[in-house]
Amino acid sequence: MNDISERIDSNLVPKRKLYTGAEIPAVGLGTFGSDRFTADQIAEAVLGAIEIGYRHIDCVAVYGNEKEIGVSLQKAMQKGIKREELWITSKLWNNKHAEEDVIPTCKQTLRDLQLDYLDLYLIHWPFPNHHGVGVDVNSRDPHAIPYIHENYMKTWRQMEKLVEMGLVRNIGTSNMTVPKLKLLLRDAKIKPVVNEMELHPHFQQPEFFQFCKDNDIAAIGFCPIGSPTRPDRDKTPDDTVDIEDPVIVKIAQRYNVHPAVICVKWAVQRGQIPIPFSVHPNEYLSNLKCATTEPLTDEEMKEIASADKNNRLIKGQVFLWETARDWRDLWDLDGQIAS
Ligand SMILES: NC(=O)c1ccc[n+]([C@@H]2O[C@H](COP(=O)([O-])OP(=O)(O)OC[C@H]3O[C@@H](n4cnc5c(N)ncnc54)[C@H](OP(=O)(O)O)[C@@H]3O)[C@@H](O)[C@H]2O)c1
Repeated sequence: MNDISERIDSNLVPKRKLYTGAEIPAVGLGTFGSDRFTADQIAEAVLGAIEIGYRHIDCVAVYGNEKEIGVSLQKAMQKGIKREELWITSKLWNNKHAEEDVIPTCKQTLRDLQLDYLDLYLIHWPFPNHHGVGVDVNSRDPHAIPYIHENYMKTWRQMEKLVEMGLVRNIGTSNMTVPKLKLLLRDAKIKPVVNEMELHPHFQQPEFFQFCKDNDIAAIGFCPIGSPTRPDRDKTPDDTVDIEDPVIVKIAQRYNVHPAVICVKWAVQRGQIPIPFSVHPNEYLSNLKCATTEPLTDEEMKEIASADKNNRLIKGQVFLWETARDWRDLWDLDGQIAS
């Protein structure tokens, strides 16, 4: 709920057509509270966001707030929003990759979200590696292992079964790389419809983005604003700040909006699907509204393209196995899958 009276007509928000024919709203609401907001606050933002026009919510089991979000989804539907108008994504966490865990875990998410089906279910990370709450980012779990394609495919087969069972309409990946996706595209019976990946002006991943386009995989972009309030454990001294970039700031002044809004607007116009997070009604409103207003000029789009700093924020160090060199091993930077 919120005290904002402005509403965005959800029919005016662009949609991206997936190869399955399904249409996903081009802006979604992220639901990761970065240790700063309670599950109830995030659930309240979900309800408020649907009220002002959002139809796409990016949920995640490991954030521990799906039950509360489920209550908000129910409330929204009781107020007249139809289930088929909503696009609800969730993700399988790393400790549930075992074949026997995938279907029961998805069913638990469905119970928590109070839904009969998900529009999209993703494998959150390509590694079955997890870590205790609050562990030091530099610690290595002795059970952590590198990517093993055979194991990933066993998990993927169960994801395919979820589609066959009608519990999930579309399946996809998250935090993948080009070499890993090539193997999946080769071996999947049902190919991924999306890859959720970090995408913001300072981390545009142009080759990977193009690879997704070429292979009919839509790119959902996380941290679209450069996650300015992410937890300290996800910050390193070399990180740059998208919303302080002079190009972004200049364009924001021109449109009289916060630089965050330009990051979201650019993302939609580039063809990716940003999922900005905010619990503040004025912020989530402006993040949706910008997808419906006058577009950036070609010149502005070019200026933002040249502001890329190749600055990955979510490096994933906590998922490293003992013999890995550093976080770069998670991302196959030399085109080879690290083992
Ligand atoms: N698949 C994955 O592995 C993965 C990884 C990371 C994130 N995600 C998803 O991506 C979502 C978004 O990423 P994120 O939350 O890290 O970062 P983000 O969306 O880039 O940034 C969110 C922060 O930006 C500020 N903000 C948002 N809209 C604003 C506006 N209009 N004006 C001014 N400030 C604004 C808010 O700060 P204040 O609260 O201080 O206002 C908010 O906390 C997450 O919530 C999560 O759902 C997925």
